[in-house]
Amino acid sequence: MYSLVVNGKTETCSKNKKLMDFLREDLRLTGTKDGCNQGSCGACSVLINGRVSKACLFTLEKLTGKEIVTIEGLEPRQKEVYAYAFAKTGAVQCGYCIPGIVISAQGLLNKKAEPSDEEVRKAIRGNICRCTGYVKIIEAIQLAAKLFREELSIPAEQSSGKLGEDLKRVDAVEKTLGTGLYVDDITLPDMLHASAVRSQYPRAKVVTINSAKALEHPDCVSVLTAKDVPGNNKIGHLEFISDWDVLIPEGEITRYVGDAVALVVSKNRESLEEIRALVDVTYEELIPMITCEEALAEGAPQIHEKGNILSHEHLIRGHADEQLAKSKYVVTQHYSVPINEHAFMEPECAIAMPEGEAGILLYSAGQSIYDEQREVARMLGVDKEKIHVQAKLVGGGFGGKEDMSVQHHASLAAWCLQKPVKVLLSRQESLMIHPKRHGMEMDFTTGCDEEGHLTAMKAVIYADTGAYASLGGPVLQRACTHAAGPYKYQHIDVEGFAVYTNNPPAGAFRGFGVCQTAFAIESNLNLLAEKVGISQWEIRYKNAVEQGDSLPNGQLVSKNAALKETLLAVKEAYETAEIAGISCFFKNSGIGVGLSDVGRCIVSVEEGKVHVRTSAACIGQGMATVTTQVACETLDLPPEMIIAEAPDTHRTPDSGTTTASRQSLFTGEATRRAAMQLRYELDMGRALSDIEGQEFYGEYSAKTDPLINDKKNPVSHAGYGYASEVAVLDEKGKVEKFVAAYDMGQVVNPKAAQGQIEGGIVMGMGYALTEKFVMEEGYVKAKYATLGLLNATQVPPIETILVQAKNIHDGLAYGIKGVGELATIPTAPALAGAYYALDGKLRPTLPMEDTFYQKRKNK
Ligand code: FES
Repeated sequence: MYSLVVNGKTETCSKNKKLMDFLREDLRLTGTKDGCNQGSCGACSVLINGRVSKACLFTLEKLTGKEIVTIEGLEPRQKEVYAYAFAKTGAVQCGYCIPGIVISAQGLLNKKAEPSDEEVRKAIRGNICRCTGYVKIIEAIQLAAKLFREELSIPAEQSSGKLGEDLKRVDAVEKTLGTGLYVDDITLPDMLHASAVRSQYPRAKVVTINSAKALEHPDCVSVLTAKDVPGNNKIGHLEFISDWDVLIPEGEITRYVGDAVALVVSKNRESLEEIRALVDVTYEELIPMITCEEALAEGAPQIHEKGNILSHEHLIRGHADEQLAKSKYVVTQHYSVPINEHAFMEPECAIAMPEGEAGILLYSAGQSIYDEQREVARMLGVDKEKIHVQAKLVGGGFGGKEDMSVQHHASLAAWCLQKPVKVLLSRQESLMIHPKRHGMEMDFTTGCDEEGHLTAMKAVIYADTGAYASLGGPVLQRACTHAAGPYKYQHIDVEGFAVYTNNPPAGAFRGFGVCQTAFAIESNLNLLAEKVGISQWEIRYKNAVEQGDSLPNGQLVSKNAALKETLLAVKEAYETAEIAGISCFFKNSGIGVGLSDVGRCIVSVEEGKVHVRTSAACIGQGMATVTTQVACETLDLPPEMIIAEAPDTHRTPDSGTTTASRQSLFTGEATRRAAMQLRYELDMGRALSDIEGQEFYGEYSAKTDPLINDKKNPVSHAGYGYASEVAVLDEKGKVEKFVAAYDMGQVVNPKAAQGQIEGGIVMGMGYALTEKFVMEEGYVKAKYATLGLLNATQVPPIETILVQAKNIHDGLAYGIKGVGELATIPTAPALAGAYYALDGKLRPTLPMEDTFYQKRKNK
């Protein structure tokens, strides 16, 4: 028997197990989060005899008699202070890291009442936060320290909740104190656990699957194979390319190491691994194709029936060859960028259970409950209405939770066994399975005249789209549509190929293909600037689009665009720095290119409050706060009167996927439209009590033109955000600071906007300098600890400037534009420009070589 004191109470356990499991499973203290189970992320931080420790690294036998404090065990005053400080400073996004960070902060403040920023950074360096960039977390800890030190009471604050106000996030308190529920925090009576047996090889024929021994295990309830799938064994985020097997059938060929071959279901989570090992799968190993070149070689085996090219884009406007031939200066360069991992803090988890007559209730943490409903219904061969999906808190997504990962397997097992079933990926499975950012090989040629006016560009792009379609086609399209940059020239020729390989699938990841091509075109601009004899800033300002200009895709620049203003806002920072690089870029809001793209919202009056009902997933960006503030603005009601509901297919209309930086604009506009109808009723003199129970429906559907069209000025997307970033280096090549100016239209919530930008910049900095997703011959060798994620001590100061066009409201949703993706795009090229300024050496690969960051690692 093991005995320890947890939050002041003596607790015992007969089994020696990890402290994290004891806390989460036995004591249901789920504020301690399981982020990696490898001691690398810090989400499970607790105090052991006052010392900050990772609960996944300790077993109970080492803790006899020790005192453990979890987030739940903090004193009421401490909880009150941290909840206030983290909400007030905008330090909470997805929230998954926050309870662990609060514990690390408490460990520090127990020892030092007035820490420096540097001491705070050091205290939380074992806590990874993938969302915030740490800036606001440090502010939050300093604010908490001040409140404790000076014994200040929590100020009573009121906000109108209107646009432009720093309304505290509606979910900040529950996320800070660990009381909010992510799916893995939930257990249900009689709940079973399921886990998939994955392919032993990147490419192999599955000859036989024998479950006999596994079924003999006392905990094993069932082993499901493709034969048990009642509907369609193929799923896919894009309905028209459903090419991803739920389970690989006997006789078929696997496409990557994440392929599921069988699904074991156990009474206990602990025995899943043992049972999986008892499933006997025989394979005929085949040679994998792990590069686009190999997959496109003559005679290469076909990964999918239609061949190894998922999609091909060729965008031509004007006469690029002719213009390049006439150009004074022309540069041609090859760029190479790798596969990159989202590393969201919460590993994928879903719970499904039987509901009603032949239905399923699914608790999910994905990016669109309606896509999940459609895919699960298709797999089970039932009407969509039979699948009821409810969203729980999402611990970060960044695009990596758009595809099915666990939802379909939980639903299949629940359907077959008529019991609640949880599927939780380990961190290692998560790394192996979900789609990544595309690795790309890119050849870019760009020309300009004597003064540096851009004349034309040509590009050829090969994108490694991995084993399945996922969103590889649209990602390639965005990579191509943005490849010329936000500049006023009209002669472009961009050809791209998304190629299937036996690597993990590649799909949506913040930036959606544009991080890659922005790095290439922006680096080419720096080469041209040098030839012309002008600065990196000047070549951009000379060419940047402004209102009335055409983007390279022909779309007219809207009245509420402020790219040049962002360049002016960072001009001084660029020009006064000794060593600096700059990038300016743009990113679409909305799916665009003629595809269906709809935001929907129901506003209803229930028990005297206004409910805002949308299915727009919050993956950390703060969607509920956005719709709350739009409703406050429209209705002139305080935020206390608004309840933004969580996505639920029974309650909230289909607002589309959280992707393409679209939700603030699309669902924001739909919310405005629904709320306007309620506003009309209120303006007519009716009180809320008079309209109790009434619902008001708002919808916004964007009208855009297909990619291939013959229009002079097509509308490719509903809107664009613009940004300029300056990266400043010291003489050793260490990043000294970033100065970033963003045109994101009407700012909903300045602190939240800054948080998005800071988090995006830090993610971009990791992509540029430190992150590596190690693969060997199709096998994933990366571990959470080796991904190269930046910690709080490595992040430089970030100055953000929110720039607004004169005609800011000349757009939908009060002029709101998305910023989520844009925030990651300019960072790598700005850093590339800075290193070029440092030593005149072009670094055309990511992560960049020969920088302070590699040198330091090698010491
Ligand atoms: Fe830190 Fe999301 S808020 S990981």
